[in-house]
Amino acid sequence: MPVDGPHHAACQRADAQSPLSPDRLAARSLPGIATALTTGYDAWASDYEADMDRYGYRLPVHMVDAARLHIQDRRARLLDVGAGSGLIGEALKAAGYDNLVALDPSPGMLRQAAAKGVYRRHLEMALGTAALRTGLRCDAALAAGVFKAGHAPPQALACLLGLVRPGGIIILNLDVGEGAAAYDGIARRLAADCKWRFLKSTSPFALFAGGAFGSLTTIHVFQVTGTC
Ligand SMILES: C[S@@+](CC[C@H](N)C(=O)[O-])C[C@H]1O[C@@H](n2cnc3c(N)ncnc32)[C@H](O)[C@@H]1O
Repeated sequence: MPVDGPHHAACQRADAQSPLSPDRLAARSLPGIATALTTGYDAWASDYEADMDRYGYRLPVHMVDAARLHIQDRRARLLDVGAGSGLIGEALKAAGYDNLVALDPSPGMLRQAAAKGVYRRHLEMALGTAALRTGLRCDAALAAGVFKAGHAPPQALACLLGLVRPGGIIILNLDVGEGAAAYDGIARRLAADCKWRFLKSTSPFALFAGGAFGSLTTIHVFQVTGTC
């Protein structure tokens, strides 16, 4: 399975002048919490999809609906951030998008994703707080289930800006409830700083069809601007 690099934290600075080649990624160690998280997802990897299926996981359908609305070009290079086992990539591929890159810090999850054969590249990395220039510039990034407590921290939202070209689209979900304010705050600040433009939010909806865990989430769509 082609997986790029060992355990990196990826965060390209939005003001990077000369992006490096993706093959020359600099390594940064992740904070301890991310290591524990990765170990947890590695252990869950083989059962993850069965569990999501049992609960009626709704994000793949809703993320792809948002992609259809905002990303017309089916050849656009799409980065699936926190791709996990590849559920979002699979749904995107079924919708006709075929230039997909997966990024996830869990090698176990990434192996499941690679087995699907829907991604052109598999990047074993975490979006984190450390500055890192990857040289990867995509037309859009999607992040499902990634920006939430114990996963990518609120500051990591800014890292997306270095991975998507100006004018490109970012689609992500934020859960409603505890911890949401910190993510909302950073998202608003990036808009106020003209780093991205807010395009659309869905109404809150149940993450799982059966209403498991009472989880509600919202999908937000942004366009990278970079200037006021
Ligand atoms: C709930 S799963 C969602 C997986 C997939 N997006 C889906 O919708 O099925 C969260 C994923 O985010 C990944 N993740 C956690 N922290 C991350 C970070 N800082 N950067 C990128 N991915 C991260 C985990 O390894 C895990 O695979």
